[in-house]
Amino acid sequence: MKIGSFALALVLASLFSIPVHAEDAALPETTSLYERLGGEAAITAVVDDFVGRAASDPAVNFTRQGTGKEWDATPENVATLKKHLTQFICGATGGSQVYEGRDMKTVHEGMKITESEFGAIAADLKASLTTFNVPEKEQDELIAIVATTQGSIVEAPPESVS
Ligand code: HEM
Repeated sequence: MKIGSFALALVLASLFSIPVHAEDAALPETTSLYERLGGEAAITAVVDDFVGRAASDPAVNFTRQGTGKEWDATPENVATLKKHLTQFICGATGGSQVYEGRDMKTVHEGMKITESEFGAIAADLKASLTTFNVPEKEQDELIAIVATTQGSIVEAPPESVS
């Protein structure tokens, strides 16, 4: 069977493929978000920055002060959170990592997380992605995935506007 030049180009491209990073422009559409983000090493770096950012953002109140479900940010707890969040994002974007944490509803139950706190944490994630030069398209794709968890995480009624 005659191999078309397009197929040949694909074979050659795969033979000479090198690890993919978010900075690399013009990757084929079929490349998973996981790969376009730069794989596990890049996602780990983003999570590291993001958790630090969210934990110190008063608009997020990450440790849930005053909610009756305060979280103790010990080094061990933070390390486990980062490990699980990295697994979660890797798995959700197309990586083969298996998420070993609890489901989103169980974890966040009783934390009284509001829509505005959820919006604030999403903005922190976006800021971390920008810090690591992740292109807008990949940022939007990841934020859209994170947004799918909102229904399981937000439980407090919207704050009164009057
Ligand atoms: C305002 C929004 C949020 C707050 C305040 C918050 C807070 C927390 C806290 C305090 C923990 C530690 C709980 C524990 O170890 O017992 C936690 C765990 C976790 N959160 Fe969130 N979270 C928020 C949004 C999100 C979002 C948007 C995601 C994912 C898309 C997420 C993913 C996780 C994961 C994977 C864990 C680890 C679960 C485990 O270790 O079993 N969280 N979160």
